[in-house]
This record gives sequence, C-alpha cells and structure tokens, in this order.
Amino acid sequence: MSRESSRVGLVEELTRGGYLSPAWREAFTRVDRERFIPDRIWIRGDDGYHPLNRTTDPDRWHALVHDDRALVTQVEDQVEDNGRDTALIPSSSASMPRVVATMLDALAVTDGQTALEIGTGTGYNAALLSERLGDRQVVSIEVDPRIADTARASLKAAGYAPTVVTGDGGLGCPEYAPYDRVIVTCALHTVPYPLVEQTAPGGAIVLPWGTGLYNGVLLRLTAGGDGTASGPVIGDSAFMWNRGETPHRNVMATVKEQDRATATRTRLDPRLVLGDENAAFTAGILVPDCRYSVGHGPDGEFTLWLADHATGSWASVDYIPDAAEHDSRQYGPRTLWSEVETAYAWWRSAGSPDRTRYGLTVNAAGQHLWLDSPDTPVPERG
Ligand SMILES: C[S@@+](CC[C@H](N)C(=O)[O-])C[C@H]1O[C@@H](n2cnc3c(N)ncnc32)[C@H](O)[C@@H]1O
Repeated sequence: MSRESSRVGLVEELTRGGYLSPAWREAFTRVDRERFIPDRIWIRGDDGYHPLNRTTDPDRWHALVHDDRALVTQVEDQVEDNGRDTALIPSSSASMPRVVATMLDALAVTDGQTALEIGTGTGYNAALLSERLGDRQVVSIEVDPRIADTARASLKAAGYAPTVVTGDGGLGCPEYAPYDRVIVTCALHTVPYPLVEQTAPGGAIVLPWGTGLYNGVLLRLTAGGDGTASGPVIGDSAFMWNRGETPHRNVMATVKEQDRATATRTRLDPRLVLGDENAAFTAGILVPDCRYSVGHGPDGEFTLWLADHATGSWASVDYIPDAAEHDSRQYGPRTLWSEVETAYAWWRSAGSPDRTRYGLTVNAAGQHLWLDSPDTPVPERG
C-alpha cells in the first residue's frame, strides 16, 4: 500500500469508528503522521520495550505509523540485555490517533481561536492545530529540550511554524496568553493554576487526569472568567504522567519492616475496588498519593500492595478465592487499606456512580472534585 493510501486509510478508519469529526477531517487528511515519527520507535514486548528501526524494517515501521496505535518515541531507562536494547519506562510518545482526534474534537475550536498545547512530543498534534487554526494561533510547550528540538525540526520540514517553547507546561506561556483553548497531552493529577489564569473567559481546557489507582479520565473544564475553571469527566484516557507528578514507580521499595505491620482481616474483596473502573477512580480520589501493585500466586491467589512513598505507609491484602475474609497488614502513619475500605463504602453509599458523573473545579485555592454538580463536593479524604 502506498504512503498516501495508508494515510487515507487511517482517516477512513477513524471516521468509521466515530472518532474523527468533519471539523477535523481535512486537517487529519493533510497532516502526514509519518513526518513526525522518528526512525526508531519502541515496541512493547513481554519483557519491556525494544526498538524498531525504519531503516532495517521499513514495512513494519510504515504499517505501525499508519495504524491507530500509540507509538513510544523515547524511553528513560534503555539498557542492553542479552545483546538487545531494552527499556521499561517510556518518556515520550505519539498518542493513539483516535485519542488525538477525540481530544481535538472535545476542544470545539472555531476559526480564529488561539490554542496552547502542553506536551509537544512529536509535534503531530501541534501540526494538526496549526493546520486547523493557523501557525500564529498555536503555542506548544515541551519540557524535554531534545524532544522539543526534534518537534521543531519536524514541524518546519512539514511546513508548519507554531511557537514551540521548551519548558514546564505547568507554567503555561503567559507571553501569548490568554488562550481560547488549552489541550494537555500528559496526565495531570493537579491542574496547574497558571493554565486556568491563561485561559480566556469562556475558553476550554481539555486534559487527561489520573491518580495512582486509576490513570485516567479526560476532563473538559470551562474558564468562568472569575479565576475558576470547572467541568465534567467526558471519557477515559491513559497518558504518560506530567514530568513533575509521576507517582513513585516502585511500590515494593516502600514496603519495609513487614514484621512490625499491624495485622487485620478484611471482608472487602480487593477485586471489587481495583477491578471496577468506577470504584478504582473513586478510590484514587479519596485515597490520594497511593499507588498499587499486584503479586500473583497459584490458583487465583494474589497479594495487593498499596504504598504512599512520601509517608512510608504501606498495606497488603492477601486474596484467596472464595474466602469470606482476607489477611491484611498495614504499616505507617496512614492506614491505606482502611482508607480504601472507607472510600469504597462512600462510593457504594453514593449509588456506585459512574466516573462520568464526576467533575473538577480549579480555583486559586486548589482543585476540588465533585459528583454531578460543583455544589456536591467529593469528601477530600476517605
Ligand atoms: C504523550 S506525549 C505527547 C504527544 C504529543 N502531543 C504528540 O502529538 O506527539 C507527552 C509529552 O509530554 C511531555 N511532558 C511531560 N510533562 C510535561 C510538562 N510538565 N511540560 C511540558 N511537557 C511535558 C513529555 O516529555 C512528552 O513528550
């Protein structure tokens, strides 16, 4: 298949899937994703990510680039393992085209508007915005200088010239503010207030938002013109974290002094919380700064580990199929499993709401989650 027909094929696929609205179809047809993808991409295998080079495997590279999938373009921890480059932690990517299309559509831009993007990455999204709104209307910020330089070069080669700033997107870019639209392409846990301050009254901020227990959802906030921005969850989206907010990765590094932990028993099946997207989303709100991992045993047994690295608190639950109660241990100033139990009870008492019923308000004092309406806040902690 020719490059041209591959690109058109992707546009057709996104349109058929209902991801690409007429408002963005022309931009997706004109901007060639291939121009923004580096020659080396990283493909996930059972033991981590391994590189795929355009020069050595051009057919596979082309097929992946014109497929509806996210592509890892940079990794953080590359090592040579058995003569093979391997990595576990991606640090930049080209988002899945259907996610790019969905987020751009959620922005609901109109001609003449200005847009700020956080997380330039490959520059593909900035090119789409430039195609739709015009170069002069678009500012994009990338924290990683090498990625920013590559994006600038790709944009120029493809004929686009938005302003690409190297820096922390959390500070926004006051020089060109206010913006009619702000789009964030890394997962936030705390919405930086400068983004609210730099959004024009009535303007919109579309952002992925997540917690250590659920990453994540897509939020669309509207700036009120009174120093606040507020809006609902509009869908799901899993993104790599904002560089300043990446949760501590190694849960087990926090698990210390196991013989000094308090042993209890719990009647709550951990699968009811972490196996249910709505319960997990709620628990992530009510049990902040908590991350989890699961160690699998034989015959369906597993141990759930929870950890708050900052306070050194951890908890575990040993799940045994068909048991009415499960052994649990808790250690540190926070009793994390008890917090999860309280969060789960609150979620049930609220009618087990779907995550799309939540929303967020951001003002100078911070951010506040709510259920159904800004007037019904979610308790700050379980
Ligand atoms: C999923 S990629 C973005 C995809 C990109 N929009 C595209 O079209 O290819 C996330 C990017 O956000 C960047 N990033 C993470 N934290 C950031 C921050 N605080 N400010 C600006 N960029 C950030 C990462 O370096 C990474 O390149």
